[in-house]
Amino acid sequence: MKRVISLIITILCAMPLFGRGVVNIIPEPAETSLMAGEFIFSDQTRLIAKGAEALQNIEFLNAFVQKRFGFMLKSGSGRNCITIAMDAQSENEAYKLTVAEKGITIIGGAAGLFYGVQTLQQLLEGADSLCAIPCLNINDRPRFGYRGFMLDVGRYFYPVEYLKRYFDLMAHYKFNVFHWHLTEDCGWRIEIKKHPELTRKAAWRSSTQITYEGGSDHIPHGGYYTQAQARELIAYAAARHITIIPEIEMPGHTLAALAVHPELSCTGGPFAVPTLWEKGRWELEDDIFCAGNDGTFAFLQDVLGEIIDLFPSKYIHIGGDEAPKKQWKQCPKCQTRIKSEGLKDEDELQSYFVKRIERYINSRGRQVIGWDEILQGGLAPNAAVMSWRGEEGGMEASRLGHQAVMAPHQYMYLDYYSARDRSIEPVALGGFLPMEMVYGYEPYGKLSPEQQKNIMGVQTCIWMEFVHSEAHLDYMTFPRAMAVAEVAWSPAARKDYASFLRRVHRELATLDRIGVLFRIPEPEGWDSVRVENGEAHIALTPPVEGAQVLFTVDGRDPSAYGAEYRHPVRVAVPADSLSMKCVVVLPSGRASAVYTMKQK
Ligand code: ACM
Ligand code: ZN
Repeated sequence: MKRVISLIITILCAMPLFGRGVVNIIPEPAETSLMAGEFIFSDQTRLIAKGAEALQNIEFLNAFVQKRFGFMLKSGSGRNCITIAMDAQSENEAYKLTVAEKGITIIGGAAGLFYGVQTLQQLLEGADSLCAIPCLNINDRPRFGYRGFMLDVGRYFYPVEYLKRYFDLMAHYKFNVFHWHLTEDCGWRIEIKKHPELTRKAAWRSSTQITYEGGSDHIPHGGYYTQAQARELIAYAAARHITIIPEIEMPGHTLAALAVHPELSCTGGPFAVPTLWEKGRWELEDDIFCAGNDGTFAFLQDVLGEIIDLFPSKYIHIGGDEAPKKQWKQCPKCQTRIKSEGLKDEDELQSYFVKRIERYINSRGRQVIGWDEILQGGLAPNAAVMSWRGEEGGMEASRLGHQAVMAPHQYMYLDYYSARDRSIEPVALGGFLPMEMVYGYEPYGKLSPEQQKNIMGVQTCIWMEFVHSEAHLDYMTFPRAMAVAEVAWSPAARKDYASFLRRVHRELATLDRIGVLFRIPEPEGWDSVRVENGEAHIALTPPVEGAQVLFTVDGRDPSAYGAEYRHPVRVAVPADSLSMKCVVVLPSGRASAVYTMKQK
């Protein structure tokens, strides 16, 4: 019988064999100490929950076990147990995970238990073929309390089920804020009961721009979230310790709203919901909410009132970025407002706008957060700043004693290109942000110790100008989001890119197994193939555990003619005619683009 059980375990846990004692966790925990021995996980392992929070986490763990191994763990006692216990003294997000031969224990705060379970899942994924987890102690807590992710569903609508899957993945890497960019020039995505025309009309457009030069697909696109769906997502996220911060853009990026309320613009319209940018080039829309019209504020209070009723988050994001002042300069109402309020210019008019909105949001017991342009003309008294144009906005806000989130586009915008060779990448708005650069971001880099105190944390953003499918969004998100996770969670002193890459290899094998369509990285060593004395010295590491690398050195297509890379080789080639190509094929069968080595 014992042999049968052990055979079953071996089959159920059919995972690739790799070094025992290697612990692969992303993000890297604050402290890990390995010890002698192993815990053998099997269908005979039992579960113990201590406290209501623990019970919920047992359910998460069992749902994972069921999906991964095909069985559910029963509750029990004694040896061979996984115990999850709430510790009322613990910081909310901290946990301790102990793996001993006799059992596994996770103790921590309410969120910490959830994070401990995520860590344990990664240990189980990375265990060897006997499902043996090395004995260890992990003492973990986040570096930053705000670990954010923004998706721009304004430009492109993603359905509720996809967002839930996205939240699962975010939570797995210990992100805890989802910033939901709900309104844009080219789409309004949240139901407002008092203004049903917003979702009846402004959630839809006739076509979507799909090439940089202005080519459109001529396919109507749209969609919106009902308030019931928003509630469902808020609860789903909250169960995974993710707070959703809704964003309603103002005064700019608002053409969709103005298409149904042209009377709230400076010119009176008419406007249509744009397909992206109508001018065939990247340029901001000039038409924004009129700051001289009291109707604008009445409308926005209606909207924000319902948003506040719906979302329990402390912060309400009011946008504030990229608002051209062209129309305000020419608008009699805006100019009258500038005079009557004693304002200096249109920057101060924007500040007036934000402060007036802030008074309403504060009166409802919430706080404003906005993009760093809200600093222009004077920051509203209680507002927090999201620093995206660089780090300066965050530093300035912090210097003024305001809270800030660091989201500098140079490091945190995952809609930027992953590779220099744009010909093999899906079209993007621009930028170049390889994973190593994301990983290297140090949020405190330029900040004085005093300024650091006001930095809540970091956030990554994905804008959807050209990201128009779930597959494409997966591609832009992973693996770079793992680097963001480590920036946000792990102590600076624990960061190590070589170690991170090894862990990414393992983690990508998991994502491949569960169907996440991440960008398959180039093999490591790809850019450092040397050619000496007519021989190419090829030493590669597959970028995903268990993946095959097929390569050619004569320019032919590696998918059809490639040799399988198994170990370092020297291949005779005339030094001046090496034309090396490769393709990476995952265990699932999915293949990368064809990567071409640049001759040095
Ligand atoms: C932004 O990227 N416009 C916030
Ligand atoms: Zn105006």
